[in-house]
Amino acid sequence: MNEEIKEAVSSTLLHWYDRDRRHFPWRATEDPYGVWVSEVMLQQTQTSRVIEYFIRWMTRFPSLQHLAAASEQEVIQAWEGLGYYSRARNMHRAAQSIVAGGGTALPATYDDLRRLPGVGEYTASAVASIAFGQSVPAMDANALRVFSRLGDIADPVDRTSGRRAIRRLFERLISKRRPGDFNQAVMDLGATICLPKNPLCSDCPLAAVCLSRLNGTTSARPVLAPPVKRTALKGDIYVLLSPDGAVFLRSRPTEGLWAGFEEFPWSAPPLEGRLPEEIGRISAVGTKIGALSCAVTRWSMTLSLWLVSRVDPSALNFSGRWVDGPSLAEIPLPSASRKARELLFRRNIVHRPQRPAESGRRGE
Ligand code: ADE
Repeated sequence: MNEEIKEAVSSTLLHWYDRDRRHFPWRATEDPYGVWVSEVMLQQTQTSRVIEYFIRWMTRFPSLQHLAAASEQEVIQAWEGLGYYSRARNMHRAAQSIVAGGGTALPATYDDLRRLPGVGEYTASAVASIAFGQSVPAMDANALRVFSRLGDIADPVDRTSGRRAIRRLFERLISKRRPGDFNQAVMDLGATICLPKNPLCSDCPLAAVCLSRLNGTTSARPVLAPPVKRTALKGDIYVLLSPDGAVFLRSRPTEGLWAGFEEFPWSAPPLEGRLPEEIGRISAVGTKIGALSCAVTRWSMTLSLWLVSRVDPSALNFSGRWVDGPSLAEIPLPSASRKARELLFRRNIVHRPQRPAESGRRGE
């Protein structure tokens, strides 16, 4: 694609955006804090739902300083109903750490934004481009679809090769003058015209240069990699309870699968070896309270869930720690242990903390 075509694509898309963009309250602000709040809310929630929450949040916490000074309870309350509460907690923590470090505003570059808790690649790109004019592509599902069609890219968008090809095209086309509007134009094009099914190509401002339209492959883009074939495995996962109701989490090694995470001890050979002798001995007096399934790389596991009560903490000597219910709710866990934790809370085996509990998915 030569420079002239590149320039034409960018200016055509921006013209279309100037005329046909969707109007949202966060698009009426240039305040980086407001842009950040909106992008975090939009991470896992639809635009139509975010509108009222955004307006309410900005009235309640109009600046980074207001957010930093709020209590966690106020913050969670303002988020109530949006789900994935770690997003709110992360924003609160980020605001507090910026203010505690003597800062008065959000960092202004992609790299520094990326270091904030809860800010992944996509959110950092959106905020850096919209609030600070940095030319970084915001690659969400809409953008992957739009660019895979525009460039007729046949590599799977859920594999590195496909993402790389799309990023290359996106980086070549993104407007250096108006990167934030360009990113938002791509979002709007994906949400209103370049739809997953039955795209409205006759209304598309880029139809004349869309390679998949020219090649007749629109409905075959984006390409998704075939699902991985998984081998079934059976195993066990253990919840060890101390007499005062604490549960045992072991620490995973610092390398390999889920490096550095904590978890309930489990085994499912050959993926995860047998447990140390000790748990084998203790589990003889355990009760099976359920089973859970989860997929890991090329394995699909079914783990029997064993509850072993009244374990003497001093009798257990492999690496890990005992935690109480409220702490357990806060600890990031691999999926099998997350499912086990959910079951423990649901059945009141361990007491759930009072505030709204975390839904399964992480922020970014
Ligand atoms: N989704 C994520 N960011 C968005 C934005 N700025 N406008 C509309 N939808 C979005």
